[in-house]
Amino acid sequence: MTGGGDCPGLNAVIRAVAKAAQAGGIEVIGYEDGYLGLIENRRRRLTNADVSGILTQGGTILGSCNKANPSKYAVPDGHGGWTIQDVRQRVVDHYHQEGLDALVAIGGDGTMSGASKLIDMGLRIVGVPKTIDNDLECTDVTFGHDTAVVTATDALDKVHTTASSHHRVMVVEIMGRYAGWLALHAGVAGGADVILIPEIPFRMDRVIAACEQRCRHGKRYTIIAAGEGATPAGGQQFVDRVDATSPDPIRLGGVAKFVASQIEEQTGIEARHVVLGHVQRGGIPSARDRGLATLFGSAAFDLIQRGEFNRLVVYQGDNINSVPIAAVADKVRTVPLDYHMIRAARAVSTSFGE
Ligand code: F6P
Repeated sequence: MTGGGDCPGLNAVIRAVAKAAQAGGIEVIGYEDGYLGLIENRRRRLTNADVSGILTQGGTILGSCNKANPSKYAVPDGHGGWTIQDVRQRVVDHYHQEGLDALVAIGGDGTMSGASKLIDMGLRIVGVPKTIDNDLECTDVTFGHDTAVVTATDALDKVHTTASSHHRVMVVEIMGRYAGWLALHAGVAGGADVILIPEIPFRMDRVIAACEQRCRHGKRYTIIAAGEGATPAGGQQFVDRVDATSPDPIRLGGVAKFVASQIEEQTGIEARHVVLGHVQRGGIPSARDRGLATLFGSAAFDLIQRGEFNRLVVYQGDNINSVPIAAVADKVRTVPLDYHMIRAARAVSTSFGE
C-alpha cells in the first residue's frame, strides 16, 4: 500500500517488495489508493508481470491518497460538511478476510501515524519511509527526496538565466511542509543567493539587504529559494488552503509571492515569483532514489521474513536499520540549525534572511 503524497520511487519499492516475496513463493496483494483501499477493500493480486518494468516509472501503480487515515476518516455529515470517524475496524476486518500475513505501508509521517493506530488493533505492519520532504524521524533520508532536489535544482538553474537577462529578483517556492530539507538541498545545489527555510525565521530587511548588496557588487539579479513553510520572524506561516477532508488539513503556500511583492514595493527592483508545486513530486526517480527504494523494499521483505513486525526500515549512516513505527508516528524531522549544509551555505555567502 502506498499512502500520502506520491513521489518518485514508489513503484521501485513495490517492485522490490513484490519480487523478493514472489521469489520466495509468497503471494502479494496491492491495496489501491493508500488506506482508502484498505477501508473500502479495493485490492488486486500483483503478479510478476505487474511489477516488471516499473522501476523507472514515477507515481504509483497502486494509486495513493493523502486524506484517508483509518483512525481519522472524514465522511460527509449530511449537512454539506464533514465528520471524522474511526473506521479502523473495517481495515482490520478486510486484512483478516484476505488472510494477510503482513502489510507493507509505504509512506510518510501520516501513513506511519495511521499504521501505528492499526498496530494497536493487532495488525502486523512493516513501514518504508517515503516523502519528497525528507522529514521523517529516525532516517537520514527518505526515498523521493533526491529526485525532488534534482527537479527543484533544475528549476533554479533555469530561473537563473531569465533573472540575469532581466535583472530581476526571482523567488522560487519549494515544497517541504514544515521542514526545509528540500529548499536547502536544492538551494545550495542551485546556487541560490538567499535560502528561506521554516527552521530559520526570516526578516524582510535582511532579505532585501542581500539583494541590494548583490547589486552593489555588480550582480544585477538575485535568486531566492523559499521553502513553502518559511516564516517571517514574529509572523505566521503562509497557508494556501485548509482541506477539511484531510487529517492534516493545512496546505502551505504563498511565501514566494509575499517575498517578491515586498522586494518590489520596498526597493523598486523588479521581482517575480514561481511556485514549483507538484512538479516536484513527478517524473522518473533519480538513480539514487531507485537504489534507495530497492534497498528499502528488499529490507522490508527481510523484516517480514524474520518476523520483525511493526517496524520502519530506515537509513542511518550508511546502514539499513529499522525502528518501531510508533517512534516516527506524528513526528516531523526538521533541519538542525548546526546541519553541515547550512554551514556550507553560509560559507559561500548565502543569506538565510536572518
Ligand atoms: O508531503 C508532500 C507534499 O508534497 C508537501 O511538500 C506539500 O506541502 C504537500 O504534500 C502538498 O499536498 P497536496 O498534494 O495535498 O497538495
